[in-house]
Amino acid sequence: MRKMRRKGLASMAVQTVATTSNPAVDLGPAAALSCRECGHRVPLGPVFACEECFGPLEIAYDFSAYDTEELRARIEAGPANIWRYAPLLPVPADVAGKPNLNPGWTQLVKADNLARELGVTGGLYVKDDSGNPTHSFKDRVVAQALEAARAFGFTTLSCSSTGNLAGAVGAAAARAGLRSCVFIPHDLEQGKVVMAAVYGGELVGIEGNYDDVNRFCSELIGDPAGEGWGFVNVNLRPYYAEGSKTLAYEICEQLGWRLPDQIVVPIASGSQLTKIDKGLQELVKLGLVEDRPYKIFGAQAEGCSPVSTAFKAGHDVVRPQKPNTIAKSLAIGNPADGPYVLDIARRTGGAVEDVTDADVVDAIKLLARTEGIFAETAGGVTVGVTRKLLKEGVLDPAKTTVVLNTGDGLKTLDAVAGTGLTATIRPNLESFREAGLA
Ligand SMILES: Cc1ncc(COP(=O)(O)O)c(C=O)c1O
Ligand SMILES: [Zn+2]
Repeated sequence: MRKMRRKGLASMAVQTVATTSNPAVDLGPAAALSCRECGHRVPLGPVFACEECFGPLEIAYDFSAYDTEELRARIEAGPANIWRYAPLLPVPADVAGKPNLNPGWTQLVKADNLARELGVTGGLYVKDDSGNPTHSFKDRVVAQALEAARAFGFTTLSCSSTGNLAGAVGAAAARAGLRSCVFIPHDLEQGKVVMAAVYGGELVGIEGNYDDVNRFCSELIGDPAGEGWGFVNVNLRPYYAEGSKTLAYEICEQLGWRLPDQIVVPIASGSQLTKIDKGLQELVKLGLVEDRPYKIFGAQAEGCSPVSTAFKAGHDVVRPQKPNTIAKSLAIGNPADGPYVLDIARRTGGAVEDVTDADVVDAIKLLARTEGIFAETAGGVTVGVTRKLLKEGVLDPAKTTVVLNTGDGLKTLDAVAGTGLTATIRPNLESFREAGLA
């Protein structure tokens, strides 16, 4: 089941291990890097693949010193951003004093109007991450990678991106006083391009799709040209990925330290979904929430649905696809964490589903009309999938359900092109009446 992914990582891992050292660093409770496949542990460093089996590395923590109620009090007394959870993240103790974007603690909106439209009776919430500094959840992951980059002495921050990450890296580097050079597919939405370019770093369009961009970045890491570069989602990926846990922490804290019953999460690489699951499990282990079942649902666009296709076919292997969808932020045809998403959806009793581009547009408008939230296409995907899974009887309308909106509609205006003026009138009441508006 894992063979395909391991093979893909093999060359990158060898290059990375060969060109970097593992300096001793203090990243708070982060104790080591541990292989998700074989459990092999290595010291904290800018490596991302296991030297034994090429499986992905993730952060292993030592939380043993924490007392549950002391930890809860410390979190609640913390700042209204992700750093309230610093004791659970791979960061040094003094992180909050350093210049960074301080993302997080976004609104958990009780979406009663949307619930009525969809027939949800158990409580429907939208976790609205468009409220972050660069208007997507990517600020959370970049904030972790930035701390790791500082700890390892990188001077250039970089990434391969479907758009939102490029903006988040550009902004974080600007605030931190680092150079940034980021790579995106050349044909992204104008809103994403401007958001990525405006912070003054270098923005490079690659002739190809995201998977081509990612391959290029892996080559650059192994080349002298990439020396001193921290690629937030490649050689800093274990640290970067931990940022998504803060979504799980916030949702539970905002629900009154309670697990939701059902969560609907968008999937591009699948990293966010896997770390939301990790975050929920940590809260249970730490005693911060009561242990009870929850289900995680993954959402994709039909035009880039490698994970939902595998889920529905009952496969363990995720077959790569060539993306063709308006949901460009989710357009990763070869998702690194796809197999783990399948495991989590199956283990928790969730599902992975996809919706058409027309459904995405309709769902963007539905969320805007009912809750006053203007989502980017990724939010259209999660709301669209939520509606579809409710209709299919897969989501339980009587359960507490959280739907993620991970980005801002202002970055994907083309998706709702044609939405505009109700009427154009002369500046007098007669004209207003003629237009049927009185
Ligand atoms: C707005 C938005 N939502 C969700 C995702 C999915 O993230 P992941 O790659 O962690 O699955 C992305 C990724 O680029 C994104 O831009
Ligand atoms: Zn391993």
